[in-house]
This record gives sequence, C-alpha cells and structure tokens, in this order.
Amino acid sequence: MQIEYGLPKSKVEPEANYSPWLSDASFLEAYAEVHTYTAVDVFRHYELWKLAQQIGHVPGDLLEVGVWKGSTGILLALAARKFLKNRRVHLCDTFEGIVKAGDNDPFYKGGEFSDTSLDAVRDRVQANSLTNVSLHQGIFPEQTGSSISTRYLSLVHIDVDVYASARETFWWVWPRMSVGGIVVFDDYGWVDCAGVIKFVEDEVFGRADGLMIHNLNGHAVMIKTGSPQAGPVQNTVRAVLRTFGL
Ligand SMILES: C[S@@+](CC[C@H](N)C(=O)[O-])C[C@H]1O[C@@H](n2cnc3c(N)ncnc32)[C@H](O)[C@@H]1O
Repeated sequence: MQIEYGLPKSKVEPEANYSPWLSDASFLEAYAEVHTYTAVDVFRHYELWKLAQQIGHVPGDLLEVGVWKGSTGILLALAARKFLKNRRVHLCDTFEGIVKAGDNDPFYKGGEFSDTSLDAVRDRVQANSLTNVSLHQGIFPEQTGSSISTRYLSLVHIDVDVYASARETFWWVWPRMSVGGIVVFDDYGWVDCAGVIKFVEDEVFGRADGLMIHNLNGHAVMIKTGSPQAGPVQNTVRAVLRTFGL
C-alpha cells in the first residue's frame, strides 16, 4: 500500500468475472459512439447506462456536471432516448476546464481539461441526432443552475474532479432530486481527486435521506431514499407513536 495525498492507494482489482458490457449490444453501440473522446473507462460508462435504464419510474431530468468532450453525457442522452422516452438531459460545463481547485485538491491547479469547446460537444450531440440535450456553458451552479432550477432530477452525474465544485453541485442538486433518484460521483475512487473523496466522506456518506454505495469501479453512488423533510417528520411520528406505546 502507498500513501498519496494522505490517502491509502493501491490498484483496485476485484475478483469478479461476469462482464455483461461485452455482450450488451445496445450498450456497445452507444459506447462505440463515445469511447474515443473520454477520460472515463468502460466500467463507469456501463454503470451509467444501466442506472439510466432503471429510473423510468423516478420523475425528473438527467443532469451531468463535468462534460469535457461529451462522452458520458452523450451516453446518458443515448440511454435516455432508448429507455426513458427521450427524457431531457442537461450537460453543464465551463468548456474551459477545471475551476475552483483549492487546498483540498493537491493534484489540481485549475484549467485542466480545457481542450474542448461548446461547439465541439454540440457537433457530437448533432452527429448522434440527439434532440433531448440541453447544453449549458458556465460555472455550475452559479452561472448555469438558474436555467435548470425549476426541474426535478432523477439521475445526476457529477464529474468535476475537485472539492468545491463537487460540494456546491451536490448541495444544489440534492433538494431537487426525486426520491429514488441517484447521484453518481465519478471521481471518488481516485486519490488524485482527494477533494471529492473528502466531500463524499464528510457530507454525503451517512445521510439519513440517502444510501451511499462505494462501487469498486471508482464511483460513489448516492441513492435518495427520502425527501429532506422525511427524517424529522418520520422521527416526530415515531416519537408520538412511542408515547402511546405503539
Ligand atoms: C474529467 S472532466 C469530465 C469528463 C467527462 N465526463 C467524460 O466523459 O470524459 C471534468 C470537467 O469538469 C468541468 N468542471 C469542473 N468544475 C466545474 C464547474 N463548477 N462548473 C462547470 N464545469 C466544471 C471541467 O471543465 C471539465 O471539463
């Protein structure tokens, strides 16, 4: 084991061998469209595809913050077209690289992933004939959140690499998530993204209104299990019932 940025590090090599992504024709067709311009491996693409396939009963749009050249975002839009009756997918990025790198992000300086543009991603959206994508350029949430703020959300992919962006994105989206909705943190499994690890462990893990799963592909997957009000209200109801010995 090594220690890097104060965190334990080793190559994560689970022993499982069932590999459905190798024979899932619709996934492979979508992945073939996007895999040449991504920072994300096939395992995480497949997880996003399978999660999107399962949220038909959860109301709300899909959102990605951290699009870069568009790979995972376009995969989500292809999944929404196939499984979710073309549900709306919002793709948010500065398209000018990482912002808000700070003391919790020793690997990042800011400006990484600037080798993209809004036009390049728009071209890829059009090349795939996607009519369900809204592109939002600017720093999320302060510059682009207002254009989505009235929407409920069902599946959110946060792939922003640094602490403040992950934190501010999560706290903006969480009250807008439907119960049963899912937030996926792309960066949790990489010590280079120490700030995202810190945020997830400090503030996401252990919430009463969610369940955080550490998928060993590197994702942290947070499932919303209750509305923000559900905890206190349920506790009050339980307290009243207890008073009556029930
Ligand atoms: C690792 S890249 C995303 C990779 C992408 N999901 C893929 O499929 O390859 C991280 C992106 O997050 C964006 N980003 C980070 N913080 C942001 C913020 N607060 N608002 C908007 N974009 C942000 C950066 O501009 C960068 O393009």
